[in-house]
Amino acid sequence: MSDKKVIFSGVKPSGDLTLGNYLGAIKNWVDLQDEYDCYYCVVDMHAITVHQEPKDLRKRTLEILAQYIAAGIDPEKNTMFIQSHVSAHAELTWVLNSMSYMGQLNRMTQFKEKSKDNADNLNAGLFTYPVLMASDILLYQADLVPVGDDQKQHLELARDLAERFNNRYSPTFVVPEIYTSKVGSRIMGLQDPTSKMSKSGDNENDYILLIDSPKATEKKIKRAVTDSLNKVRYSDDQPGIKNLITIYSKMTGESVESIEAKYEGVGYGKFKSDVAEVVNEGLQPIRDEFERLMNNKDYLEDVYMNGANAAERVARKTLRKVYKKVGFIPRKFK
Ligand code: TYM
Repeated sequence: MSDKKVIFSGVKPSGDLTLGNYLGAIKNWVDLQDEYDCYYCVVDMHAITVHQEPKDLRKRTLEILAQYIAAGIDPEKNTMFIQSHVSAHAELTWVLNSMSYMGQLNRMTQFKEKSKDNADNLNAGLFTYPVLMASDILLYQADLVPVGDDQKQHLELARDLAERFNNRYSPTFVVPEIYTSKVGSRIMGLQDPTSKMSKSGDNENDYILLIDSPKATEKKIKRAVTDSLNKVRYSDDQPGIKNLITIYSKMTGESVESIEAKYEGVGYGKFKSDVAEVVNEGLQPIRDEFERLMNNKDYLEDVYMNGANAAERVARKTLRKVYKKVGFIPRKFK
């Protein structure tokens, strides 16, 4: 057993990865992989809380795994797997559902938003979605969960459930901490810089996909909504420019101050084309590696098979403890 602290995180395969997913979460995972014992999951069970075409879901699940690897997450160092392959996630969810209060789940902003968008498919899975997410995290005794800032409330719920269980029975779960980056924990839409960049948006100019072509990426950034102040400044009064500075900073590692200084007196046209250049430079190796991996399905199968085996062992151990503590008679085997 390693004495490294544990990380768990995941992405829903309900659409292709956006620059928001990459900069808000996955890029941080890459940076954290040496220091922590990491579990990176493709959360297909979360995805079915909104309608999915089965064929597309299968395809996207594999693509997202390939994109994790292409982005620099090393399958040799990390446990990478598909959520539905480890049945303990569903099983712990049932126990935690029985300890989750309707009132608290009702207050989840993401549930409220999703309810509006899915009025014709307002299912119980959408409601208990954050409980499944808590199970993901708690099964692996994760210390840290690197996510974008939109997941804060869900993380709070996971912490509450861990504490509630520990208090009601006895210490069982590690209470996880959230990890968000100071800059870039919420990448905004290019067309509407007052709301987060999202793959579920209808306007394709609002988001950049990791697998967009360099040309499409450049076009979207050039069309990004800005303002008429013509100053490259990191200010709440200029949400469009602030977002582009954030993107530039996350892609290059350059500080916000140094970007502001570099573009002092420079027009938006030049700034935007430089943002497009750094984004394309950073994404191109990922796109190339993604292509290569998708032509190597045997390798991807190996990764998720080994990942599920390793994850299963850890998850089962936690679930066994939980079942025992709540009073289930341990199953006997002949
Ligand atoms: P999902 O699939 O919506 O997003 C995956 C990750 O990307 C982050 N993210 C963003 N970060 C910055 N700016 C944005 N515009 C942006 N859009 C998305 C999200 O915060 C997230 O980190 N419920 C989760 C998936 C999940 C999970 C988990 C995460 C299921 N179980 C356990 C962590 C731990 C979700 O829907 O993420």
